[in-house]
Amino acid sequence: MKEKVEFKGSVVLNPVPVVLITSKNKEGKENVFTVGWIGTVCTKPPMLSISIRPERLSYEYIKETMEFTVNLPSTKMTRAVDYCGVRPGRKFDKIKEMNFTMREGSNVNVSYIDECPVSIECKVKSIIPLGTHDLFIADVVGSHIDKELIDEKGKIHFEEADLITYCHGEYFKMDTEALGKFGYSVAKNPVVKEKSKKESTKKDISSDSKKKAKEKSNTSSRADKVSKKSFKNKKNDKNKGKKNFSTKKSTKSINKKVSKTK
Ligand SMILES: Cc1cc2nc3c(=O)[nH]c(=O)nc-3n(C[C@H](O)[C@H](O)[C@H](O)COP(=O)(O)O)c2cc1C
Repeated sequence: MKEKVEFKGSVVLNPVPVVLITSKNKEGKENVFTVGWIGTVCTKPPMLSISIRPERLSYEYIKETMEFTVNLPSTKMTRAVDYCGVRPGRKFDKIKEMNFTMREGSNVNVSYIDECPVSIECKVKSIIPLGTHDLFIADVVGSHIDKELIDEKGKIHFEEADLITYCHGEYFKMDTEALGKFGYSVAKNPVVKEKSKKESTKKDISSDSKKKAKEKSNTSSRADKVSKKSFKNKKNDKNKGKKNFSTKKSTKSINKKVSKTK
């Protein structure tokens, strides 16, 4: 058995998504800030939650209008994500400084960030004070997704959006290769992962039926790969000429203290 260390006093849930939240006050002033404490809380009706410290300017704006948008940034925006999470809106015009393109919302009176591949419009339903943070539970009333992420069948390829995750004070990229599909563990004909296929070729498969089954699985998985590749190529063509927010500094140098102030 492995040796375990017992940890108390902190939520060690990692990694988490990291998002940019936009808000607008009653006078029409807009703000953006970074949030890591976010989660889906209900499927129907679609709902999510974010936790906000009361001292944030965003807290004030969101409480005033009870609306916000969640914007999922891509890795090109990592520096902007960090900046919006360490600079207060009371002193800095982060939207202007980050040169974000703001697009008018369709279901809320808050603009969303065009450079983010996915944006979600939310209306706050309830606010629960918890301690350092208040929990904002909100209805999802709409969303905007880059068309290039959606394939012919209507499936959204979030894995191709190059999204960022946050893990214990550092930002990470997401892998584009799936480890498995929902329910594959119990499926009759699961799509076999490339690695395990290679492993299985080493094994001596003697019977004809086993060979045939393997051929069939290889063909379908190759087809999967090809369609995914062509989807990727199409997307890369479209991506040319997009704004680049990439950081010059290595994310490794991010001050660990930042995570403590969340
Ligand atoms: C990666 C990261 C995650 C963060 N997550 C949260 C969060 O979930 N809730 C929160 O209140 N602040 C969070 N912060 C801190 C705020 O984004 C930061 O204090 C910001 O400057 C507040 O901006 P505002 O005053 O303009 O609203 C996070 C910061 C970073 C860098």
